Amino acid sequence: MSQRILVTGGTGYIGSNTAVELLSAGHEVEILDNLYNSKIEVLDEIEQITGKKPKFHQVDLLDEAGVTRVFKEGNFDAVIHFAGYKAVGESVDKPLEYYENNVTGTLHLLKAMRETGVKKIIFSSSATVYGVQESPEYVETMQTGGHLSNPYGRTKYFIEEILKDYSVADPEFQVCLLRYFNPVGAHPAGLLGDDPNGIPNNLMPFIMRVANGHLPELKIFGDDYPTEDGTCRRDYIHVVDLAKGHMAALDHLKPGVSIYNLGSGKPTSVKEIVTAFERARGEELPKSIAPRRSGDLPEFWANPAKAKAELNWQTELDIDDVMRDTLAYIAKHA
Ligand code: NAD
Ligand code: UFG
Repeated sequence: MSQRILVTGGTGYIGSNTAVELLSAGHEVEILDNLYNSKIEVLDEIEQITGKKPKFHQVDLLDEAGVTRVFKEGNFDAVIHFAGYKAVGESVDKPLEYYENNVTGTLHLLKAMRETGVKKIIFSSSATVYGVQESPEYVETMQTGGHLSNPYGRTKYFIEEILKDYSVADPEFQVCLLRYFNPVGAHPAGLLGDDPNGIPNNLMPFIMRVANGHLPELKIFGDDYPTEDGTCRRDYIHVVDLAKGHMAALDHLKPGVSIYNLGSGKPTSVKEIVTAFERARGEELPKSIAPRRSGDLPEFWANPAKAKAELNWQTELDIDDVMRDTLAYIAKHA
């Protein structure tokens, strides 16, 4: 059944790819974003792919009155909440800005939802809430919030807890916490890729900038980890698979709080990522081995069994699909 969905952060990387899936499935989509880390042209890219342009509200979540206004006009059935700051390193230098934007922004959203009777929310959480665990295969039942190395991660943990508390206060409230592993790739049309402002922190956006000549070389942070090839291993998930995970979550929302890992269940090393990119491109990437980056864990990946069993969702795309779509994106955004 078609629903009216408000997508916060919907001009961003994951939000825009999710908007495409929602529109393609026949849902009505409105986007709220302040364009802090995204561009208005993304709306045209969404239209190119789907033939539909979502209604756009350039509103900051910190503008409580503005957020409430959007809800009073919107008559939404559900919210998918992507908007937030996400740079781990920056959050260490600017903790107050991170807590204000991510946590206060979410409180404004929840108050506007309460005022207008919107009872469904899907929240972009992160594998980061698991912190350090004894096993690198993360399961939803593991304790969260311990040994978190940065304020960004703590904002995700705090927002999860706020949503749990609110669902106790309102038993009709339906919350789904989606814990993403490492989102990569772009829409196969070569659109809606991960193209952050400034110098990227994450591996794939950095590789993209080296490939298009905007940065001189990739630094591989550490090759002396206790893994097979000595580089860190992560669970990389194609952004289209991730977007489809939100569709499955929307279909299975129920009162209370549901929590799912969204990952492939398979770890890939930094060296394997670089090799896959070079293979797809047919050319080597300038690179060198650099010291370890502080705060990096040697390896972790998702146990995605719960999402498969309950949401009937699993990843369908692999690292070679990621590289193909990343190259298509680079070709269109040189
Ligand atoms: P993104 O930066 O591309 O998108 C976030 C969007 O939110 C941007 O368009 C930005 O302009 C907007 N925004 C930020 N603060 C806002 C505010 N106060 N009001 C209105 N809009 C605001 O990031 P993304 O990679 O698409 O991530 C989406 C969500 O998923 C984030 O919450 C992020 O923390 C989470 N997440 C991302 C990753 C990842 O590696 N990309 C991993 C785990 C979780
Ligand atoms: N890496 C490099 N060189 C780079 C960038 C990254 O070697 O220039 C390595 C990192 O050391 C790490 C791997 O590539 O081993 C992946 O790094 P990313 O920064 O792409 O991703 P992380 O796993 O560190 O971080 C991601 C999300 C965070 C989230 C975290 C934990 O970006 O939002 O997972 O879930 F908090």
